[in-house]
Amino acid sequence: MNDIFIPHNEIERQHEIAYSLRAVTAGKKACVITFGCQQNENDSERIAGALTLCGYEMTDNADEASMIIINTCAIREHAEIRALSEAGQFKGRKERDRSIKIGLCGCMAQQSHRREQIYKSYPYVDFVFGTDMHHKLPEIIETALNAKKRFSFVTELPHNEFGIISEGMPVLRESEYKAWVPVMYGCDNFCTYCVVPYARGRERSRKREDVVAEVKQLVEKGYKDITLLGQNVNSYNGGCDFATLLDECASFDGEYRVRFMTSHPKDASSELVDVIARNKNVAKHFHLPVQSGSSRVLKLMNRKYDRERYLEKAREIKSKIPDISLTTDIICGFPTETDEDFAETMSLVKEVGFDMIYTFIYSPRVDTVAAKMEGQIPKEISNARFKSLSDMENDIAQSLNDKFIGKTLRVLSDGVNKNGIPCGRSSQNKIVTYDKFVPAGQFVDILIETAGAYALGGKIK
Ligand code: SAH
Ligand code: SF4
Ligand code: F3S
Repeated sequence: MNDIFIPHNEIERQHEIAYSLRAVTAGKKACVITFGCQQNENDSERIAGALTLCGYEMTDNADEASMIIINTCAIREHAEIRALSEAGQFKGRKERDRSIKIGLCGCMAQQSHRREQIYKSYPYVDFVFGTDMHHKLPEIIETALNAKKRFSFVTELPHNEFGIISEGMPVLRESEYKAWVPVMYGCDNFCTYCVVPYARGRERSRKREDVVAEVKQLVEKGYKDITLLGQNVNSYNGGCDFATLLDECASFDGEYRVRFMTSHPKDASSELVDVIARNKNVAKHFHLPVQSGSSRVLKLMNRKYDRERYLEKAREIKSKIPDISLTTDIICGFPTETDEDFAETMSLVKEVGFDMIYTFIYSPRVDTVAAKMEGQIPKEISNARFKSLSDMENDIAQSLNDKFIGKTLRVLSDGVNKNGIPCGRSSQNKIVTYDKFVPAGQFVDILIETAGAYALGGKIK
């Protein structure tokens, strides 16, 4: 078990490489462009931490950067197309200035067919590195600065039985009051549609004391909203179960919130529900992806629960935590999904009453079981199902949000939204807009006066 942890002397060696690069990188800027989930956002903060350690100044403007790293996502075709078109943007710049370095990493980089495509069709991408390589970044940057040839640092997964965990590399966080804290990496569930187990390797947990120490330090620094991350947090086994870890992370003094992403319905335990209900610092938001309301489709997806079991869990959550916001993910157009299957999804959604649904159109992924299934659904049908579901969810979300009118919500300010209106998030993760500016990172009580399907509005109390 211990051999999954990168030894301290290797981390120290990487620090030494980083310091030795500072003379070369002085005055230079680096940029990380991120696609995908929170895990990738956090990875990018780690990449930025390593680049800073190497002496780079970070910038959001790729035009002024001499080191550009594109952190990709492979979850659906659309995500891959976006990342590749981003890489394509740098063709001209690289032709004008051979000294800039372009790297590509993340879940696409982990797939051999994508690496071949990048090698053949994106000659201006200088280097590629996989999802297990972040602790080696100083070495990768050093190689990039010296290499005459293109190169890649990738451990082939899933042949790598364990995957790795590295502690002790720096993190450059985007926000001064919201933070991601990974608790486990990888996924062993092999849902038949999903690329993540291939891109992220086997499940492995950080040690309980490392996670708790990181959260404690964040709380002491004044972080107010901390999200514990894992593809399936309930599989956490770094010294206790996830419910205990969550409880411990949410038990420090001071006003702050702890969230988590994502919990798999097959093993979202009653203990976890009880911790959310009982611990005031745990946010009242449960994201519990159902994927489909049809037991037949759930079986084909290899989700290991059926419609009834999901409904039972949802009932337990709603009855134990009355102010909970329950959100979910749904895939439309999974292979062989019939009108009857989809009608079961619609009826489950109605019965549960989700505060928000992230609806996706099924996208076949190379290497997955579902991509080879007979009965792929035509795009027009999936699109129509997507629309029916979204329309119904709009009405459900509206009526759930209407119930907040007249109530007071504790909101963590995000400053202003892109239209300049003061806004923040409630414990339920609802977007709330209000009348007067409050500095980002401060809590404020808001009396809710208006409700839409996706946001609430009110006045400072
Ligand atoms: N680990 C998380 C999900 C990570 S992926 C979990 O199990 O809940 C986020 C969401 O993307 C999934 O819940 C699923 O709804 C969607 N998704 C994954 N693979 C997909 C695919 N091939 N096509 C369409 N949507 C997909
Ligand atoms: Fe993908 Fe399933 Fe793992 Fe989630 S639990 S990451 S959907 S394989
Ligand atoms: Fe995408 Fe990889 Fe996350 S495929 S959703 S970035 S784990």
